[in-house]
Amino acid sequence: MPRFSDQVLLITGAASGIGRAATLKLAAEGASLFVTDVVAEGLEETVKAASEAAAASGGRIESKVTDISDETQANASVADCIETYGKLDTLCNNAGIIAYFNTDEMAFADWRKILSVNLDGTFLMTRAAIPHLLETKGAIVNIGSTAGLAGLAYGAAYSASKGAIHAFTRAIAVEYAGRGLRANSIAPASIDTGMTRPTKMPDGADFALLNRLASLHGPAGPDRVADLILFLASEDARHISGEEIRIDGAALA
Ligand SMILES: NC(=O)c1ccc[n+]([C@@H]2O[C@H](COP(=O)([O-])OP(=O)(O)OC[C@H]3O[C@@H](n4cnc5c(N)ncnc54)[C@H](O)[C@@H]3O)[C@@H](O)[C@H]2O)c1
Repeated sequence: MPRFSDQVLLITGAASGIGRAATLKLAAEGASLFVTDVVAEGLEETVKAASEAAAASGGRIESKVTDISDETQANASVADCIETYGKLDTLCNNAGIIAYFNTDEMAFADWRKILSVNLDGTFLMTRAAIPHLLETKGAIVNIGSTAGLAGLAYGAAYSASKGAIHAFTRAIAVEYAGRGLRANSIAPASIDTGMTRPTKMPDGADFALLNRLASLHGPAGPDRVADLILFLASEDARHISGEEIRIDGAALA
């Protein structure tokens, strides 16, 4: 019997990187998947890549283009998942964005944008999902970052959003523990995805400051984080809640 047979999982940010890697692994393990992203094309590619494995394992995959920072879309996404499958066992809040600025020059709109996707989006999806997760005594897996545990130079908004995700996860874990809901967060670093590829840096950026948070084992593929998402969503993790797990190649050890 595949590990995720009869399990319904909703994953945000599934069009690429870690979200796609988790989708592919879950599809091979019998899961019923509801995958979402704001990028329609990438989302379609993920569904295409996962469909064969899902069919072979007895799983299913459905998708919906969703901007998690939009309250109406976030609510509709969870509602569609419930309409499709009748229940929800795990919500994985994985979607996120990053951009680098000298903080003293950063526009308020840029700050708000990062906080609205990473933090507001995580809240909106979680709020919509909680009533359904309480029915299944389900789980939440939030993707934070080592940048939420230590300072990421030029990434103040990203760091703030990710630190808040870890704090938010602990609050949920405590608040709903008595009703059987588990909530954990993951703090990755140096995962080779679109997010870590060369990007615009602010003038005068000191790369030594950025390298403080780099993995001491070099970069890793998104599969490594996907394995941890599956573990935290699985029965094997049934006594783990309120935890934040670094997967950072000893960067913050
Ligand atoms: N790659 C790393 O080293 C690393 C390190 C720490 C944390 N993370 C976190 O891992 C998660 C996944 O990132 P990744 O590395 O796979 O990068 P990625 O850019 O490949 O994936 C992020 C996904 O989120 C989607 N997204 C962006 N805004 C959205 C919105 N408003 N609504 C819905 N979807 C949206 C993007 O389209 C993309 O598919 C993110 O939360 C990121 O912050 C990554």
